[in-house]
Amino acid sequence: MDDITPDLLLEGVGPALMFREYRVFDEIGSTNAYLKALPSDEPPGVVAVADYQTMGRGREGRSWVAPPGAAIQCSVLLRPPLPPDRIYLLTTACALAVRSAIAPFVREEPRLKWPNDVMLGGRKVCGVLTETEIMPSGRARAVVGFGVNVREAPPARVAPDAGCVRQFAIRPVTRLEVLVRALREYDRLLVRLYAGDLEGVWRAWRSSLETLRRRVVVRGYGGGDEVAGWAADVALDGALILETEDGERRRVYAGEAIERA
Ligand code: BTN
Repeated sequence: MDDITPDLLLEGVGPALMFREYRVFDEIGSTNAYLKALPSDEPPGVVAVADYQTMGRGREGRSWVAPPGAAIQCSVLLRPPLPPDRIYLLTTACALAVRSAIAPFVREEPRLKWPNDVMLGGRKVCGVLTETEIMPSGRARAVVGFGVNVREAPPARVAPDAGCVRQFAIRPVTRLEVLVRALREYDRLLVRLYAGDLEGVWRAWRSSLETLRRRVVVRGYGGGDEVAGWAADVALDGALILETEDGERRRVYAGEAIERA
């Protein structure tokens, strides 16, 4: 992968508090799986980037597919000092960072689809997957992985709703530029989170969500059930607050929010 190298990342991202080492691969199973397999005493701050993943993982057990050279596949190893019910903010902050990173290159404002998909013109251009485990020391270790379709979207038969940044670009854009901007911004947001500004990051997430104040169906909730309703708000613990037709307020924690006419 010669357009992205550890040296280019070190130089581009500059001094970062959360990232200390960049490892770049031409091909790997999954950058998330790679970081998860590191020994439990590996200090946080390792960033793994791959040109191509043979077994890319998506949310809810799905796979994540991108042709070689088309997308950014990146994962970071963190040891977040956050309570378990706020770990989701790592994912949220990552989506916000990617959103800011692509904004200067595109003609429309990128928005987030609950919980953490980055959308451009109604198409998904980035997904984030966080995997957390409790280490023998009792502390959480998190791997946050994001995939950004920069040059090309995956084939429509694999991901019919996907798009890529280049499709909406107003000027030339490279994977390196997007990745450098995303990591810089993610570093800044993680510093804010670790310093305790959970509400500030939550507010930024909430105001970027295109899902709110719309009628949606959430699929995959509770193992396949669907919940339909008015997406009224999000709670501080990350739940989507849905007002259902029978006047109930339901809190939904996972799934895919699909807009209804
Ligand atoms: C989603 O389903 O929306 C989340 C997709 C996350 C994909 C990224 S690509 C880099 C990292 N490694 C993986 O195997 N998955 C994540």
